[in-house]
Amino acid sequence: MKRKLLGALLSTAMVASLVVGCSGGNDTAPADTPADTEAPADAETPADNEADDASAPAAAGGGKIGISMPTQSLERWNRDGAYLDEQFKAAGFETILTFSDDKTEQQVNDIQNMLADGVDMLVIAAIDGNALNTALEGAAEQNIPVISYDRLILNDAASYYVSFDNYTVGQLQGEYIVKALDLENAGDKTYNIEITAGDPADNNATYFYQGAIDAIQPYLDNGALNIVSGQKDFDAVATPGWKTDTALARAQNVLSSYYADGTQLDAWLCSNDSTALGVTQAVTSDYAGSNAVIITGQDGDEANLKNIVDGTQTMTVYKNVSNESIVTLALAKAILAGETIDESLIPSFGIECAFDTESYETSAGNKCPSFLLVPNVITKDNLQDLVDTGLYTMGDDGYLSATN
Ligand code: BGC
Repeated sequence: MKRKLLGALLSTAMVASLVVGCSGGNDTAPADTPADTEAPADAETPADNEADDASAPAAAGGGKIGISMPTQSLERWNRDGAYLDEQFKAAGFETILTFSDDKTEQQVNDIQNMLADGVDMLVIAAIDGNALNTALEGAAEQNIPVISYDRLILNDAASYYVSFDNYTVGQLQGEYIVKALDLENAGDKTYNIEITAGDPADNNATYFYQGAIDAIQPYLDNGALNIVSGQKDFDAVATPGWKTDTALARAQNVLSSYYADGTQLDAWLCSNDSTALGVTQAVTSDYAGSNAVIITGQDGDEANLKNIVDGTQTMTVYKNVSNESIVTLALAKAILAGETIDESLIPSFGIECAFDTESYETSAGNKCPSFLLVPNVITKDNLQDLVDTGLYTMGDDGYLSATN
C-alpha cells in the first residue's frame, strides 16, 4: 500500500551533511534491530525527566527547535506538544510550538514561519505525510534536520523517525480479539466482526490496519470470523481525519444495513480511540443485540478510558507519549552534536525501543532510520499501570484523568 510519489522530491545532496537520515546511505548503516513484536506485560516505566547535560553545540548555545503538531482537536497531540515543549525547554532549547488545525496548508505555513525564525531543527507530526514538500525544501536548503515525529513524512528531507512500532499496535488489537473470542477453539462457530481504520493521509494508518488484519486473517480464512458488511479493504474502512463523527456515521450505517435483523455483532476492530469513540456511540445507541461487543482502540484518551471502566470499550493500545518526547529530545541532541545515529544511542534514552532501518520508507523508496518505542495493551484489569506511569490519576469514581 505504498503511497505514490507526489511532486518533485528533493535531491539527497541538498540534505545536511551531518544528517544521513532517510535520504540514503543506509546500505552502510549498522545492522538494525528489527522491531520487537512482544508486548511487555506492564506499561512503560515512568518518564525519566532528567535533562541531560547539553553536549550538542546548538543545545549548549541555546538552539531553537520548531515543534509542529497536527491539531489540538485530537487529545493526544496536546499531550505530545506539551511534553516536547517541556522536554526541549528543560534541556536549554528555545522552542516554537504550533498546532495546524488539521489543515495541511496551515502546517506548511507554520513550518515556513519556523524556518524564517531561524530554527536549528524541526520536529514534525505531519497531517499528511505527502504534503510537506514545499516546506521541507526550505529546510533542506538551510541544512535544517527534520525529525518525523510519530507519523512518517514521506519526503527525503526528513532525517529520522521517532514513533511507536505501529505495526505492533495493530497486531496487539487483532490478537486481543483473537484471544477474547478464543478463536483458536471456535470449532464450527462463526463470530461477526467489523473494522474501522484511520486516516489515509496518515502513514501510520496502514501499519495499524495491516498489523491487525494479519492477526485476524487466519480466522477470516477458516471461517471463525466473518465481516458481515464485507467491508474489509483499507479504503472501504478508512476514516479521513480520524474523525469521531465520521466513524460514528459509518458505524450507524453498517449497523442499520447489516445488523438490524438481529445478526449478532461480536467485535469491532477500531484503529484508535477517536474512531472507537464514534463506533462505541453507534453500538450503544443503534445495535439491537444485548451482548457486549469487543471494541479496540489506541492512545488512552480520557473519554475512552472512561468507556473502558464502564465496559463499553474493551481495550486500548497505550503509547507513552512522554517517553516518545524524551527519545525525540535525546535524538535531536545527538543529531545536533554530529554523533553517529544508530542503536548505540538507545541505552542513553533510558527507554525501551528498537532501531529499525527497514520498515519505513519515503516516497522515493529510501529507508528512514527509525526509533520505535513499545506499545502496551490496557484493559479494565490493568488501568493501574497507567496510574503507575505518573501520567494519569484515578479519581474516587474509578475514572482516570491525564496529568497534563
Ligand atoms: C497516531 C495515533 C493517533 C492518530 C490520530 C496517529 O498517527 O499514531 O496515536 O490516534 O494519529 O490522532
